Amino acid sequence: MASTAIITGASRGLGLALARALAARQWRLVIDARGADGLEAARRELAAHTDVTALVGDVADERHRRALVTAAGDRIDALVNNASILGPSPQPELLDYPLDVLEKVYRANTIAPLALIQSVRHTLKPGARILNVTSDAAVEPYEGWGGYGSSKAALEQLSNILAAENPDLRVYWVDPGDMRTRMHQEAFPDEDISDRPLPEESVPGLIELLEGDLPSGRYEARSLIHINEG
Ligand SMILES: NC(=O)c1ccc[n+]([C@@H]2O[C@H](COP(=O)([O-])OP(=O)(O)OC[C@H]3O[C@@H](n4cnc5c(N)ncnc54)[C@H](OP(=O)(O)O)[C@@H]3O)[C@@H](O)[C@H]2O)c1
Repeated sequence: MASTAIITGASRGLGLALARALAARQWRLVIDARGADGLEAARRELAAHTDVTALVGDVADERHRRALVTAAGDRIDALVNNASILGPSPQPELLDYPLDVLEKVYRANTIAPLALIQSVRHTLKPGARILNVTSDAAVEPYEGWGGYGSSKAALEQLSNILAAENPDLRVYWVDPGDMRTRMHQEAFPDEDISDRPLPEESVPGLIELLEGDLPSGRYEARSLIHINEG
């Protein structure tokens, strides 16, 4: 039977690149995004290769999360918490950071992934993977990255403790590296980002986590490629 994955935020960027790779490997997919047009374009493309359900919605919305989990059914092989928001662009320094916006960033980037993990806990197959996409901004004190970075830092520690509390689960928290995506352009609004690697370059590392046998832990996606190759 085909493996089933929920991938949040798969209408573009890293989520879509991963969805394409899993579709080619015959994974059954449940994907989402807030924007209907981009999601429908992704769904149509992926449906040529595999069974895909696409649900428009915001991961911060509990009803939408429930719909995702219901669509995935009762035998889930992987939950990929990829959807994420940057917050304001350009990003304000912490002393000026609007707290209502910070709450939204935390809801999407930190609370929603945990909420989805809680919701799928009884439908995960033995050996299922939870893959939380984080960032080097979770660990580096980049000026201006306090909102987004702290949301990812919380997601990392949450993953770390979840792994310790559930030795039977594979919990991965993964820095995909800088990627040429819309989020990256928003983060560097005045920069030419054409020198950044495409998200496809981070995908083999994620596949290694989803289909390989690595222990729970923090990984850098592009460093894992060497394991894949070797
Ligand atoms: N790009 C980088 O350099 C970089 C570096 C380190 C880590 N990351 C991480 O990598 C992951 C993917 O980022 P990306 O660069 O591929 O971003 P992206 O190109 O902006 O794509 C984000 C995807 O998530 C969806 N999305 C955003 N917020 C959502 C929400 N609240 N609910 C549902 N879907 C949502 C977007 O669609 P809609 O906007 O239509 O909802 C889109 O499909 C993120 O977790 C990001 O933090 C990226």
